[in-house]
Amino acid sequence: MTDEDLVFQSYGRCCKSTAFFDDFYARFLASSAEVRDKFSNTDMSAQKHLLRAGILNLVLYARGLPPTKLKALGESHSRQRLDIQPHLYDYWLKALLDTIGAHDDELDVRTLAAWGKVLRQGIEVIRAAY
Ligand code: HEM
Repeated sequence: MTDEDLVFQSYGRCCKSTAFFDDFYARFLASSAEVRDKFSNTDMSAQKHLLRAGILNLVLYARGLPPTKLKALGESHSRQRLDIQPHLYDYWLKALLDTIGAHDDELDVRTLAAWGKVLRQGIEVIRAAY
């Protein structure tokens, strides 16, 4: 199986666990006051649904889809709009990898490394639009 296949299947297992997105945001918000400030006026239940699709966009980009959706996320997160500074993606990545580790009961070192590679590729597209 390719790294991209391992990630796709792992994401399927994560999405089956209903607490996955709650746990991600608990970790992400706990990681930094700057992150908490950004979400101070956000309806977090809606945000959890948006993130489910957002992560899928990163996964599909790694599987060869054009970066159209990621470029749009780059625009919405850029300095003119949400103003998500580039270093905040490091908190996002760590929170997500930790959450995957807690929810995917079939995770192994190769799949976790594959996740890191896949997510970093997509994050670079979003961050590059800052
Ligand atoms: C690759 C990582 C990320 C993905 C896939 C992602 C995905 C999304 C999506 C799909 C939306 C809603 C649609 C949109 O506004 O374009 C959104 C909104 C938002 N994101 Fe991100 N995001 C990421 C990283 C971050 C980071 C690092 C922060 C920093 C705190 C952040 C803060 C926000 C905020 C504040 C909103 C708007 C919330 C609101 O409507 O009140 N995002 N994100």
